[in-house]
Amino acid sequence: MSALGWGHRYLLCPPKHFGVLYEINPWMHEGVVVDVDAARGQWEALHRTLLDAGAEIETIDQPDGVPDLVFTANAGLLDATTRRFVPSHFRHPERQPETEVFATWFADRGWDVDRLPDDVDQEGAGDALPFDGVLVSGHRPRSDAAAGNHLSELLHVPVRSVELVDERLYHLDLTFCPLDDRRAMCAPLGWDADGRDMIESLVPEPLWLEDDEALAFCANSVVVGSLVVMPSCPPRVGRILESWGFDVAVCPVDEFLKAGGGCRCLTLALDVTFAP
Ligand code: ARG
Repeated sequence: MSALGWGHRYLLCPPKHFGVLYEINPWMHEGVVVDVDAARGQWEALHRTLLDAGAEIETIDQPDGVPDLVFTANAGLLDATTRRFVPSHFRHPERQPETEVFATWFADRGWDVDRLPDDVDQEGAGDALPFDGVLVSGHRPRSDAAAGNHLSELLHVPVRSVELVDERLYHLDLTFCPLDDRRAMCAPLGWDADGRDMIESLVPEPLWLEDDEALAFCANSVVVGSLVVMPSCPPRVGRILESWGFDVAVCPVDEFLKAGGGCRCLTLALDVTFAP
């Protein structure tokens, strides 16, 4: 068993203009007020926890009018070796203006920006995570099934697709969290039968999340070496992670859960590579 080869460099976005201003997933309710100071404090605590774990962090400035840009996981996909960035193509018009903000950030730092076709939706690392040499790609609520082949070509990586069937778990990163090269937290609640079979054959030692654990966003965790940074950690999950040698840090991000996002959603790993 060896640790993930990525997860030591992240892009985060300080919540300057965060709020719940529209409803594009079942967790969002327009009447809900975000406590801006609390959101800022929760974000700072997550930022500090990642730094203390040894991660390097870069930040992007949030323009007004794109409240969900704090969820940098949805920026796009990348390969750090070739410095190629594939910006997301968002399903909902509310998030579409984010694409150019992220594309510009990467282009300004010397990354090659390669686009998906205009008619293919794909929401970045929120819907695609590397595991042991393949890219696991989720589709239906936000990303199109067709995105898989395009990602495979653009990033030169084999892709395995999983259909997301529960609207509450509308992104792959709410159902799947790679821990090392053999283990991952897995929420079968989110997948159809083929998807469950695929994950079962891909992941030698899955930590199967129970439905209430999945709906508490346990899989939406950030893994920095042997530290698992979680929005919440039920005792059963904590015991298993610790028996496997992981430490757990809980970073409550309740203000962001009002928009349907947890710890992983607030981060984009900048050191993912598919080069052999
Ligand atoms: N409100 C955002 C949306 O619905 C939340 C994004 C969560 N991001 C994630 N990677 N799961 O798009």
